[in-house]
Amino acid sequence: MVSFYPSHPNTNLFPADGKGFPHFMLKEIYEQPEVVQTCLSHYLSEERFLSGSSDHFISSPLNQIHILGSGTSRHAGLVAQYWLEQIVGIPTRVRSASEFLSAPLPVVANTLTIAITQSGETSDTLAAATQQQASYSRVAGLFTSRLIGITNQPQSSLARVVDQVFPTLAGDEIGVAATKTFTTQLVVLACLTVYLARCLKTVSQERSHQLITELQCLPVKIAAVLEQQKAIIQEMAQKLAPARHCIVLGQGVNRAIALEGALKLKETTYIHAEGYAAGEFLHGPIALLEPGIPVIAIVMSDHSYEQVLNTVRKVKSHNVPVLGITGATVPSEASQILDHQITLPTTDELLSPFLTVVPLQLLAYYTAVQRGLDVDRPRNITKTLVVPES
Ligand code: BG6
Repeated sequence: MVSFYPSHPNTNLFPADGKGFPHFMLKEIYEQPEVVQTCLSHYLSEERFLSGSSDHFISSPLNQIHILGSGTSRHAGLVAQYWLEQIVGIPTRVRSASEFLSAPLPVVANTLTIAITQSGETSDTLAAATQQQASYSRVAGLFTSRLIGITNQPQSSLARVVDQVFPTLAGDEIGVAATKTFTTQLVVLACLTVYLARCLKTVSQERSHQLITELQCLPVKIAAVLEQQKAIIQEMAQKLAPARHCIVLGQGVNRAIALEGALKLKETTYIHAEGYAAGEFLHGPIALLEPGIPVIAIVMSDHSYEQVLNTVRKVKSHNVPVLGITGATVPSEASQILDHQITLPTTDELLSPFLTVVPLQLLAYYTAVQRGLDVDRPRNITKTLVVPES
């Protein structure tokens, strides 16, 4: 068994957990290769999503998908929206659980609703899922719709509300900022996407094998990011630490990762960070730019490349330095424009969020430490931990 725990600096600090990590958040970031592997093995196994046999948890036909969640879990939903629409071709809507009560999504025939919550206890998400289940009960008999839950706590309150629970198997996450529960939510959603694409025959056998093979390579690639990019991320954290504002840009499947990166920075460093779609950033928010505001751009060599690079060029024309999180195959013109560059292993462009989020988690962590903050227990936010009954 390969160990995914790398050698690690700061082991002279007080360990939070006895494994040599100074904080739970860092420990949990470094656990990602292992938990992603565990979760993949679970959902790629014969008797789960990819069996293609009688284990159907969705009704057929399936007209649309609704996703409910809050914070980081909503961002996992936004990544999945991209996958489900672009790979499966199924209309998918993501609604903040907190908005759902005042603006519920219309109940339409043959809908699969997915409630995502790492804790299974977030009151907004529980209330939204409960309301959706009540709407489905009212139309039962007229058409079929189902509500499933994705959670790290299968014993939580969520289980009482949904028809079926899919656990993320990430183990306890003590740090308040969600990290490993986010990447394992993505695993469940990616496996679900490939499963639906196979059922509905929206991708060829060859393409679905390609995606599965690439999913199986992710643990090693995440471990490589953790090992190889640590030094540059620590250097970047020193530069970011004095900032009051920060902008994170992404496009396509990585727009959600820009939002998630900005949320991690807000939660742990208290820097006012905002995530934007790189193209949309030009339509108003670019007015925010001034030299002291760092910009982080996710620049992948996928079909969002030209659009992101165009925005990066415009940002640079205002004398604002840009830190790029790039794929290994990104053209050299991008490397020449970016002031600093974090380079990630090559992966399928659709699966890049598994890798692009990792440097942003580490950047948030090291910047918070640099600012002398209590990174595991940020002010004003809490996290529900479900302790199993003995
Ligand atoms: C918020 C937290 O209250 O809840 C976020 O501040 C978190 O960090 C969000 O992402 C959702 O939590 P959960 O447990 O429903 O995934």
